Amino acid sequence: MPKDFSTMEDSNQSSNLSIHEVSNPSRRQILKGGFAGAVTGLLAPLSSVAALQGCASLGSQSGLIGFKSVPATQVDGLLVAEGYTATPAFMWGESVGMLGSMPEWKADASNSAADQEVQIGMHHDGMHFFPLDGSKRGLLVINHEYTDDGLLHRDGMETWTAEKVRKSIAGHGVSVIEIEDRNGQWGVVRPSRYARRITAATPMAISGPAAGHAMMRTAADPAGTRVLGTLNNCAHGYTPWGTYLTCEENWAFYFNGRDKPTPHEARWGLRKDGRGYRWHEHEARFDVNKNENEPNRFGWVVEIDPMDPTSTPIKRTALGRAAHEGAWVTQTKDGRAVVYMGEDAQFEYIYKFVSRDRIKYGGYAANKDLLDHGTLYVAKFNGDGSGEWLEVTHGKNGLTAERGFTNQGEVVIKARQASDHLGATKMDRPEWIAIDPKSGEVYCTLTNNTRRGADKQPVADAANPRGNNTMGNIIKWKESGDFDGVRFNWSHFVMAGDPANKRSEAKGNVKGDVFGSPDGLWFDERGVLWIQTDAHATNMYKDDYAGVGSNMMLAADPRTGEIRRFLVGPVNCEVTGVVCTPDMRTMFVNIQHPGESPTDRSDPSDPSKYSTWPSGRKGERPRSATVIIRKKDGGIIGT
Ligand code: FEO
Ligand code: CA
Ligand code: CA
Repeated sequence: MPKDFSTMEDSNQSSNLSIHEVSNPSRRQILKGGFAGAVTGLLAPLSSVAALQGCASLGSQSGLIGFKSVPATQVDGLLVAEGYTATPAFMWGESVGMLGSMPEWKADASNSAADQEVQIGMHHDGMHFFPLDGSKRGLLVINHEYTDDGLLHRDGMETWTAEKVRKSIAGHGVSVIEIEDRNGQWGVVRPSRYARRITAATPMAISGPAAGHAMMRTAADPAGTRVLGTLNNCAHGYTPWGTYLTCEENWAFYFNGRDKPTPHEARWGLRKDGRGYRWHEHEARFDVNKNENEPNRFGWVVEIDPMDPTSTPIKRTALGRAAHEGAWVTQTKDGRAVVYMGEDAQFEYIYKFVSRDRIKYGGYAANKDLLDHGTLYVAKFNGDGSGEWLEVTHGKNGLTAERGFTNQGEVVIKARQASDHLGATKMDRPEWIAIDPKSGEVYCTLTNNTRRGADKQPVADAANPRGNNTMGNIIKWKESGDFDGVRFNWSHFVMAGDPANKRSEAKGNVKGDVFGSPDGLWFDERGVLWIQTDAHATNMYKDDYAGVGSNMMLAADPRTGEIRRFLVGPVNCEVTGVVCTPDMRTMFVNIQHPGESPTDRSDPSDPSKYSTWPSGRKGERPRSATVIIRKKDGGIIGT
């Protein structure tokens, strides 16, 4: 979602020439010339999109990546590599399939709040596929990051009411849908005993060191152990014991802050009116003036058992509080869980949690409190390519009562302040993290940071080397020893950019197809690194993104560094959420907020002003959706 409307300034950074630019000098003409128009004509309407001939591409340099790249475009359609199909499904507003409660989607957005509570939420983001029957049937668990209330309600944000707040709350959270492959076509099983909606009003438990802390107690929950809902569920994670992790990113946007916030509230970005959700007008818990502790109950990693629709989601506070992008889990050789987490905000941090106990056989029942006990660390990237994990533990490294940390509960609630004190490295918006199954290296997208080097802001450093970083980069590190190591060595996998850019700091060093603002990141089992982008190129950093086109997904070979564009999304969307079935023959990708206005909430009088995707019908609301990608020959995705 739009977060940063800073302007840019010129600065210095050398770059390498892109191989793709050498082999395809006419790329800018493709983007800017008649080709885009031809694509629009070819692909609209776009309820199901055929493959398009790719642009000139590299030869088969990489053994891993076997498709021809698609061109950078900016059209209201979805392009996927030649030889593949990409079919939109599981759209906002479809019923999730709860027995006895399966209301139809209404294209004029006249569905009630009660309907939305059992329909797929808005603005899909991270997701995971939990197999029930190999690669033929499973649970798709999808995050819904936020709502565009201009589209969610028939008359947008006019006549703001309690019912609209309830519907907006219901549009958030997580959907659990059962899906199956019916002779080559994926569909939702309705009804399904697994179908579930988790929203910003679902009762949840709080566990770990912050549970019951004085800063977590409210009038509605004097014990500080129960909370309603999860907010701004951006990316995700999944555990070896079969649970789903959903992460609370820009939760501060939902609260009406005080005129004069406390230092703690200011450090967490609480401000008057938040970002205009206006929930506090009808739900007092979102008004800091009336419930000062309620914001402390958000910003956590939430564990969900997808197999039991009656289970209570649990906020795992031992993992620390943050504007959590996601939580990616691996394990040490002796079987302890290691969770990597980035905080997507300018100048915030990268964290690692190492569990105290080993993972046990027996699924979730045997690992119910595994994420409640362990050690939290925050990353420091040194200038010489080394790095350290600094322990975020009460009583260590100066995290003492005298400095405002009375116990571990307060340390995790005030994780940002603790990391400030420890001198952790302030990063350029860490988003997704992915662990290379072959090398054990850990990769993290640093999406962009246009305030880097600005007046009174941190200057460039070794890990975040570009001032006015409009294009972003991907950093990687290798732990010293096992995943619980407290030292590591790091380097940049790629500086995103476009060699055609005027600004040297926006050129990058991409070996292949240009891109900017990497966000989603996922290793498939073959070791292909899939990269998804979330740039708001239509109004921000316009010049730097002139040749990049709409948001996209690319595939990278981590060994050669080669990067190829696999898919381009419709205008003003974000491409996010990626997972394959175990046989790697179906890939699910989310298209979030197609046609979102870069500057305003959508106007319901013309909801299709910027995009009609996926219906292709003028006047109809664009809808976030999952895209089902298959190879026409039935082969493995990416080959
Ligand atoms: Fe919700 Fe950081 O993207
Ligand atoms: Ca993201
Ligand atoms: Ca993003």
